[in-house]
Amino acid sequence: MRRPLIAGNWKMHFTVPEGLEYALHLRHVLEPFADREDIVVLPPSLMLWEIANVLRGCPIEVGAQNASWEDQGPFTGEISPKMLAGWCHYLLIGHSERRQLFNETDEMLNRKLQAAFRNNLKVILAIGETLEEHDLGRTQEVITRQLSAALYGIEARRAADLTIAYEPVWAIGTGRAATPEYANEAMSSIRGLLQQKLGPLAGEIRILYGGSVTPANAATLMQKPEIDGALVGGASLKQADFTEIVRAAAEAVRSA
Ligand code: PGA
Repeated sequence: MRRPLIAGNWKMHFTVPEGLEYALHLRHVLEPFADREDIVVLPPSLMLWEIANVLRGCPIEVGAQNASWEDQGPFTGEISPKMLAGWCHYLLIGHSERRQLFNETDEMLNRKLQAAFRNNLKVILAIGETLEEHDLGRTQEVITRQLSAALYGIEARRAADLTIAYEPVWAIGTGRAATPEYANEAMSSIRGLLQQKLGPLAGEIRILYGGSVTPANAATLMQKPEIDGALVGGASLKQADFTEIVRAAAEAVRSA
């Protein structure tokens, strides 16, 4: 079994003081689970450095929700992977909100992936079909396109630094999570694609499920063999909910 990973994507929530206070609480309640799983929080970039400091010396890691494909230069408003290198552990790339609201293309995401690896960041690459694509039966085609484009030119030796988050867009923030069976099947085809592209080292890549993960569905999702953890949005903003999801992953390890 791959070591599970639970990542909390805070999106554009919390003021800086609120975020710091929340991170301190998480530090106390989540630390006991960190021997069985990786736990990551993805705060807004404004507070990322402060939160990394609050969590220093504790096994909870931090990640950025977005960064440029360039290391530096005249790119007003952007932060670069080079700025994150050495203290920030993860970079989330390809979230559907970045794709849809900020027009990020597959080609841009490939450049971001290369830039992240160039700066030794671990990557959580989010992929998934929209409701329309789902209804048209195009899920497999979309996943194949997104993965192939993002991984273009990426060397297999990077596999251990890569995590895929399968997030059907119709499940994000809707309260309508995919069924564990549906998610498991999609993720098994993602596993097959990763093997085609990266060979045997693809076995090290974790595949997370994301989209309306809650304490109520986390345990059944996590019991599925292809589901190595979760990318959590709304429920990661509430300490009790996020803790229950982290606990569900720890229990899945125990019962495996
Ligand atoms: P949600 O968001 O858990 O609120 O559905 C998931 C995500 O956007 O990664």
